[in-house]
Amino acid sequence: MPQISSRILDATKIIGPAAPCHTRRSCGGTAVAVGVNLEQTRSVSIPALRWIDPPAGPAIELLDQTRLPAVETIVTCTDAPSLVDAIRRLVVRGAPLLGIAGAFGVALAAARGDDVAAVAEELAGARPTAVNLGWGAGRALDAYQRALSAKRDAPLAALREARSIADADARACAQMAALGLALVPAGARILTHCNTGALVTGGDGTAFGVVLAAHRAGVLKMLYVDETRPLLQGSRLTAYEAGRARMPHAVLADAAAASLMAAGEIDLVVVGADRIAADGSVANKVGTYGLAVLAHHHKVPFVVVAPVSTIDFGTADGASITIEQRSPDEVTHMAGRPVAPSGSGAYNPAFDVTPPALISAIVTESMVIQPVTAGNLRVLNQGT
Ligand code: MRU
Repeated sequence: MPQISSRILDATKIIGPAAPCHTRRSCGGTAVAVGVNLEQTRSVSIPALRWIDPPAGPAIELLDQTRLPAVETIVTCTDAPSLVDAIRRLVVRGAPLLGIAGAFGVALAAARGDDVAAVAEELAGARPTAVNLGWGAGRALDAYQRALSAKRDAPLAALREARSIADADARACAQMAALGLALVPAGARILTHCNTGALVTGGDGTAFGVVLAAHRAGVLKMLYVDETRPLLQGSRLTAYEAGRARMPHAVLADAAAASLMAAGEIDLVVVGADRIAADGSVANKVGTYGLAVLAHHHKVPFVVVAPVSTIDFGTADGASITIEQRSPDEVTHMAGRPVAPSGSGAYNPAFDVTPPALISAIVTESMVIQPVTAGNLRVLNQGT
């Protein structure tokens, strides 16, 4: 039986109420940074994932993202089945963090003496679109098997690999933020979709990391946050992170993005990615493709921010990307209550695919790919 335990944190002791935004004139004219303090612009103060060593562990603690923003609860996974369950339920989510979780999941199996290869396979299949999940689990498995053949401490090797993936992702976030910042105009009104910050990476985030860098640099005028139906990762999680970072932000219904862009109120769209095919097609949270079409129509730059680990050079194009289909209940119900007549079916793909022609640039930690072509991505592949 999967073992999951949870404890509710006293959030008031950990994080105080959000203070007003530190920028001035944020609703008109150019935003001007006043007394920017990095500690005051952190988007999250509770780690999204934490490894617990013996004697309390081995275990993985996860900040339960299904309960945010109302409750900050930790889910403790003491074995791989409980982690797989947490991944499927979106307790832990977002491509880069899934890569880290996959690697720590393999380390957990190794520490317990479980069948490590079988666990890596199970983890990789838990969410089929997010390429980092199988990639992270595979890297930890390789490290484990190499150590085993060399008669070294194999569980320790898997754990070290997981830690190194998490550290590398934190560094990648910082590099993406620096490179992406160069694409943000002064006084930018940015629109984003889904959730791409510290809750889903080892650092400050992918797309949200760029927004945070813009906020810290005083060039962000407003962040517009798509609510991101059906599971509301935007309104529940991105708004939570933006509020913590004292960032001027507004949540909008996904369908309102069209009129906002038509009114000339958006200067830039930035989103993350779950898998990028070799031709530059980007799978990301459902609704991303629609935003890209809108941005193209309104001549608004559409920028994808993702680490190189999210690029899948083994998948030729967008049509070859497996799209995760999720339960109809996520569409027909909200917060457990029905919002459609009983018996209604639902179409619920978790992701959609944006073709490269609609993407102005892909920001990675190594370089900015612009224009987005298979040839330009190939250069990146050779450099890794
Ligand atoms: O289904 P989710 O919530 O895991 O989807 C997450 C996204 O689509 C993110 O935009 C993507 O993983 C990039 S995270 C930095």
